[in-house]
Amino acid sequence: MIGAAGRMRNLQESSIAAMTVRCQELGAINIAQGLCQVPPPPSLLAEGARDFRDFDHSYSAPGGIAVFREAVADKVKKYSGLDVDPATQVVATVGATGALMATLTALLDPGDGVLLFEPFYGNYPTALAVLGLRPEPVRLIGPGFEVTEETLRSAVTPHTRAMIVCTPNNPSGRRLTTAELMAVSAVAEERDLLVITDEVYEDIYFGPEPHVAPATVGDLGRRTVTVSSLGKSFSVPGWRLGYACGPERLMNAVRVAAESLVVCPPVPLQELGARALRLNDDYFRGLRAMYDRKRRMLAEGFAAAGLSPNEPDGSYYLFVDCSPLGVATGAEATEVLLQRCLVGTVPGESFYLDPPDRPYVRACFSLPDEVIADAAERLARGV
Ligand SMILES: Cc1ncc(COP(=O)(O)O)c(C=O)c1O
Repeated sequence: MIGAAGRMRNLQESSIAAMTVRCQELGAINIAQGLCQVPPPPSLLAEGARDFRDFDHSYSAPGGIAVFREAVADKVKKYSGLDVDPATQVVATVGATGALMATLTALLDPGDGVLLFEPFYGNYPTALAVLGLRPEPVRLIGPGFEVTEETLRSAVTPHTRAMIVCTPNNPSGRRLTTAELMAVSAVAEERDLLVITDEVYEDIYFGPEPHVAPATVGDLGRRTVTVSSLGKSFSVPGWRLGYACGPERLMNAVRVAAESLVVCPPVPLQELGARALRLNDDYFRGLRAMYDRKRRMLAEGFAAAGLSPNEPDGSYYLFVDCSPLGVATGAEATEVLLQRCLVGTVPGESFYLDPPDRPYVRACFSLPDEVIADAAERLARGV
């Protein structure tokens, strides 16, 4: 009988999508899914409406149109300090997801092990399973979720060929420090590992220290494919526009894989995306100030409910230890918050291969202020 392929059999839709359905049924506020519900820059929308007809509407070259690749290279140089040749080292992709899939497809073989730092973005294990790759957890312990050489070394197996490093992290909100990235560099060098970074939240960080691109630390540049997206930085996840960049010898294969997967991301959006990437510093400062305000509003709601959320230093999530609720798991905590407060969150279990050390839930603050205020009030009243 025809049916799902063997490697797909244990895969399910994410629990985050299921929570969205339950919230709709119960009339609850959904702060679970990282949908990004803030408006894109108005200037960009106006330009799109004005110029759409004049954009190229055919396929682009494998790797993307030149203006997009040049805009990526310039932004990466300006904010991350990395030199990348737009012609040979940048590949335009369908979101960061497309960049991750193309990179994994291009540079790894079925059966290869990939280290995932727990807690991780829930799509990683699914992506690995789809490609026949082996997820290998590196358990990080909250509230610090610190990466050390010892933790990394003890997670490496004879199958390990790569690791995915997400900074700023979804869901923990942690940004890896230069010292932690040096540890990554040391172990990657020792075991000759490919490093794939996921930097989709690179422009959303809090505090004076700018984002540190892993490829700028130690020897990581020569073994790292940097993945990012326009979705979070410009509040346009539906444009499905992202990119990968790295050493030419790796990017040649990534370009072939990206082309075979989807040919290229939508060309008119590459044109607009190039303009977005060139928005000035004020835009990025404003983005951070907006998210800083939103994270405080939501954190105050959790604090008023007797829960102490972590203070994220990047991304747009709170990762909340719900032990004070007297629950044993994130799934129970999610249920309590849903039933008592009519607020939908994501159980921490969604971000781990094995049960987490504490009953965590993740809450998203990429929402309109009034929704966050309502959620904060319900939390304070309900718990
Ligand atoms: C850590 C992380 N990586 C990748 C993605 C997906 O990015 P894109 O929409 O650009 O494919 C997300 C989206 O939530 C994310 O949180």
